[in-house]
Amino acid sequence: MASSSPFLIVAIDGGAASGKSSTARALAARFPFLHVDTGAHYRAITAEMLRRGILPEETAVTRALGDLVLGTRVHNGAALLEIGGRVPGEEIRSPEVNAAVSHFAALRPVRAALLEYQRGQTSVAQAHGFRGLIMEGRDIGSVIFPDAGLRVFLHADPEERARRRAKEGQQDSVAERDRLDSSRQHAPLTCPPGAVDINSTHLSLEDVVARVAALVNAHIATAP
Ligand code: DC
Repeated sequence: MASSSPFLIVAIDGGAASGKSSTARALAARFPFLHVDTGAHYRAITAEMLRRGILPEETAVTRALGDLVLGTRVHNGAALLEIGGRVPGEEIRSPEVNAAVSHFAALRPVRAALLEYQRGQTSVAQAHGFRGLIMEGRDIGSVIFPDAGLRVFLHADPEERARRRAKEGQQDSVAERDRLDSSRQHAPLTCPPGAVDINSTHLSLEDVVARVAALVNAHIATAP
């Protein structure tokens, strides 16, 4: 990658278990880009609210969000959300968080708090010497970075996605989460116009990564 290439933002969106995280991680290993998993942000906030016994309701959540000090730790090429100086652990993948996260993610104050935080990750990446950002989620190409240099939307049949989650040993209703995430009022899960839509149902992870890597390389080659 030429040292003069402009900073590149790669937005990867898609439903639950669509392959976003594995693809984003593999790309971050191949390019000098910081990996940001925004699903982990919503999960971390949800775990914190559950720990405090707070229900997904605007007034209580707004009050609790006011107490949270969000930070970022960069580790192994990835940016991790800190809450009060601590990076939440595996509790963010628990069945309780899987079941509650879409309800908290639908709340306007939660999305507003994370919008600023997530846009700020470009500064974190630049401060750590990365040449780009790979951010994965549901609304990255539509709301967080609609002008990203590359926007990809991954989808796969629900049966295949349920199989992937079960293989990971996770208890997760992917179809129900997608239904909630797609039908919410604020920043719903959607393939934004102009994004590259990839159906990964019958593709291996290597195939998906190769396709997106080719798009990144094409973008770099034509960058001014
Ligand atoms: O990517 P994931 O399955 O870990 O995401 C967990 C939940 O977080 C998902 O069901 C909806 C929410 N989410 C969101 O609303 N917006 C994002 N950009 C990322 C995740």
